[in-house]
Amino acid sequence: MGRRVLVTGGAGFIGSHTCLVLLEQGHEIVVLDNFDNSSPEALRRVQELAGSTQLTLVEGDVRDPKAVDQAFRTAGTVDGVIHFAGLKAVGESVANPLHYWDVNVNGSRVLAAAMDRHDCRTLVFSSTATVYGEPQTFPLREDMPMAPIHPYAQTKVAVEQILGALCRAGSWQVACLRYFNPVGAHPSGQIGEDPMGTPNNLFPFITQVAAGRRERLRIFGQDYATPDGTGIRDYLHVMDLAEAHGVALDRLFQRQNADPLTLNIGTGRGLSVLEVVHGFEQATGLTIPYELVERRAGDVPRLEACPQSAQTMLGWSARRTLEEMCRDGWAWQQANPTGYRNNS
Ligand code: WQD
Repeated sequence: MGRRVLVTGGAGFIGSHTCLVLLEQGHEIVVLDNFDNSSPEALRRVQELAGSTQLTLVEGDVRDPKAVDQAFRTAGTVDGVIHFAGLKAVGESVANPLHYWDVNVNGSRVLAAAMDRHDCRTLVFSSTATVYGEPQTFPLREDMPMAPIHPYAQTKVAVEQILGALCRAGSWQVACLRYFNPVGAHPSGQIGEDPMGTPNNLFPFITQVAAGRRERLRIFGQDYATPDGTGIRDYLHVMDLAEAHGVALDRLFQRQNADPLTLNIGTGRGLSVLEVVHGFEQATGLTIPYELVERRAGDVPRLEACPQSAQTMLGWSARRTLEEMCRDGWAWQQANPTGYRNNS
């Protein structure tokens, strides 16, 4: 059944793919986005792909109660909210922790207060695998302790705690989705990840090397206690992650009990950096020049989800392969060499 959904940060990488899934599910969407690290072009393409006009944009900042109220008023009635709007660069959070607490925590507080005012208490929140810090045992289960090691992760823990308290106070339905490493793009190549400047993350860096925009990949660390010495992450296709949001929201609409649904969203299969590089080469037939360099400060050796709870609670599991992640990410890069800028 079609619902009205408010999506904060809906123009971003994960947000745009989720908006597409929601439109295809028959929901009506209002997006609140300040385009701090995203482009309205993404939303135009989402509507084109969905063949739907059921998306309305309110440009504004989630920390601004007037903007959030405006989004609620634009929607009329909001049945549920998906809250993506926030900052996600670990290094930047170390350099500027106050900004991270303001945008991520204060933004979530302002949003939750507005939801309360507008009588909407159903929320899917973007959390992160980094809440586990530097874990020693794998795979990671949701009941393992949170031990964030940088301000970015600390802000996500803080919001999870606020949402837990709201649920205990009554009448909220909340899902905290702890994302592992989303990569790839919609198979159309029309929407994808559009990092500003030099990419921090492995996947967009690889696709830019493949495109000849960068000379070679630098692989950070070759002496981790992993089979080939490079770091292990649980990469999942962004479309699988987007679908998890659609399913989680539907689940919240049916749910009565009040505890937050806190779920890892990953494949359960960790891959090393070298495995990703070789997987990309195989999927595309290209060669990715690389060099092995020092570890990157703040990196942990390994993150790998136990995806069982998401399967049990949502009936969701990641189904797309590394080959699809590589193929779709590469298609997006080729069709949009400079992302959403200058080639719309
Ligand atoms: C993956 C692996 C690197 C770049 C991400 C997000 C962060 C947070 C958590 C949401 C690591 C290696 C990378 C490169 C490399 N997001 N690497 N060369 O570190 O898991 O963090 O998830 O919660 O915001 O960034 O992802 O893609 O940066 O790194 O060797 O040029 O690739 O050392 O082992 P990470 P990543």
